[in-house]
Amino acid sequence: MRLWFLVLLPLLCLPAPIQCEDYSDVTVIIRGSETIASTSNEFVCATIDWWPPEKCNYDQCPWGQASVLNLDLTNPLLAKAIQAFSPLRVRVGGSLQDQVVYGTPNLGSPCNPFSKVSGGLFGFSQGCITMERWDAINALFMNTGAVVTFGLNALQGRQQIRKGVWGGAWNSSNAQEFMEYTVSMNYPIDSWEFGNELSGSGIGASVGVEQYGKDIVELQSIINQLYGNSTKPLVVAPGGFYDQKWFARLLEVTGPNVLNAMTHHIYNLGAGNDPQVANRILNPQYLSGVSDTFRGLQLTIQRHGSWSAPWVGEAGGAYNSGSRQVSNTFLNSFWYLDQLGQSARYDTKVYCRQTLIGGNYGLLDTNTLLPNPDYYRQVTALLWHRLMGTRVLSIDISGSSYLRAYVHCGKEKGGVALLLLNLHRSMGFMISVRNDLNVDLAEGQGIRRDNAFVHGLKRTVSWVGSKASDGLEKREEYHLSAKDGNPFARTMLLNGAPLELTEDGDIPELNPVQVSVNSPIYVAPLSIAFVVFPDFEAEACSQ
Ligand SMILES: *[C@@H]1O[C@H](CO)[C@@H](O)[C@H](O)[C@H]1NC(C)=O
Ligand SMILES: *[C@@H]1O[C@H](CO)[C@@H](O)[C@H](O)[C@H]1NC(C)=O
Repeated sequence: MRLWFLVLLPLLCLPAPIQCEDYSDVTVIIRGSETIASTSNEFVCATIDWWPPEKCNYDQCPWGQASVLNLDLTNPLLAKAIQAFSPLRVRVGGSLQDQVVYGTPNLGSPCNPFSKVSGGLFGFSQGCITMERWDAINALFMNTGAVVTFGLNALQGRQQIRKGVWGGAWNSSNAQEFMEYTVSMNYPIDSWEFGNELSGSGIGASVGVEQYGKDIVELQSIINQLYGNSTKPLVVAPGGFYDQKWFARLLEVTGPNVLNAMTHHIYNLGAGNDPQVANRILNPQYLSGVSDTFRGLQLTIQRHGSWSAPWVGEAGGAYNSGSRQVSNTFLNSFWYLDQLGQSARYDTKVYCRQTLIGGNYGLLDTNTLLPNPDYYRQVTALLWHRLMGTRVLSIDISGSSYLRAYVHCGKEKGGVALLLLNLHRSMGFMISVRNDLNVDLAEGQGIRRDNAFVHGLKRTVSWVGSKASDGLEKREEYHLSAKDGNPFARTMLLNGAPLELTEDGDIPELNPVQVSVNSPIYVAPLSIAFVVFPDFEAEACSQ
């Protein structure tokens, strides 16, 4: 009855303040019979980088004290932010990673941090991490249950042979001592990553794939030797931009069961000062363009190294420290959540957001001592992590390309979890969600697959499954929107209330609203909704 009423009245009026918006009807059909891809349990990942405070872009220096070397590890907000995920995968790495040396007893030179030098790679000297600092970082990681991916210096021992091209074998001795120390201290490293953006034509420096492959084989043998019979960390590489030939060849050169994952980087929104960044985020065709990369890597691995798996090792949206106007605003959540959704559909196991902290794109505000940091960015990551399970389902969606939808098996509550992104600036969407179980049933009876049928079917069979329904099933909705309707706001609303830390600095409870499953879902213009259907009957999720 209510639905019928709304169809006659194509304006939705919400009470106080009175607000009427155009909306359009959309049907989403969830195919619950098979999974199309899967992620790992620690799919949501965030990076900690090496950039010192002197790293600047566009007359702005947004790194502050956010580096591996100087981050205030005792700040309780940092620990709470990591702990909230239990577990969060943290990838330690970034551009300066291939200039890091490890302050082991045999280093043979003083253990000094990075300093600015003209002519240095990325404008900096070599930098050293002391073992005391490494101890402190591991204490934080162990206390917070972080799952650690550590990126090793893969330029050590090589020489520059042409502009931007480095040759010669990797000198593993300093890295090996560092790893020996790490093993002796029982610091749990989930995965050792080899190199940062040295693949293909490289960023700043590149290394030929034949040599790179040999060096990875050496890394694996070091790991085998150091870890003996205990569980071995994964070997992941190359941490660079996807280049089909280079990545395929790397799998061939390293051979079976050496590279456990191929990490690639994504900065598809342009430079941090590009005025088009915001428009690109709201352009569905533009957002979808990156699927070629996800599909390409998935196919390369299927064809050349099925033992491996695709990971996004670093993705910040806009490169050069992010966009000051966009990366730290609500608008950026559309890009981020859409990336999580798209990459998962192509079997990406891990997605590391640049950064946990640092630059303009951190999940946390660079200055964690501020009383009210940008917690919304962490909340979007957290909601995904808590609600979206590892198994990815497929979806059919009718209507506007401005509504983007992703569905996974549910995580804590069973059923399925749906992510809806409305990229439209003025149009809302009234969404009917259907189970393809019902739709297929109808096709068997020769009934058209349209709204009239779907509405009729509800009377006899619950839309969430094939079992008869008492009509009391609920779904849970988490609606995210920008404060004051301003997409560039730095505060986000969850179901209408601003997200803020509690007085104790804890992440607030993220509570859904309960809604009867038989009503349509309304997703307002420029808003995001996570919707959990605990009773949704999806065969692939119950196995
Ligand atoms: C690797 O580096 C170590 C320490 O700098 C050095 O002693 C050793 O000779 C190097 N090995 C090779 C093969 O160059
Ligand atoms: C590893 O396991 C093998 C066979 O079980 C055993 O002989 C060897 O001593 C073990 N090595 C270590 C370092 O524990």
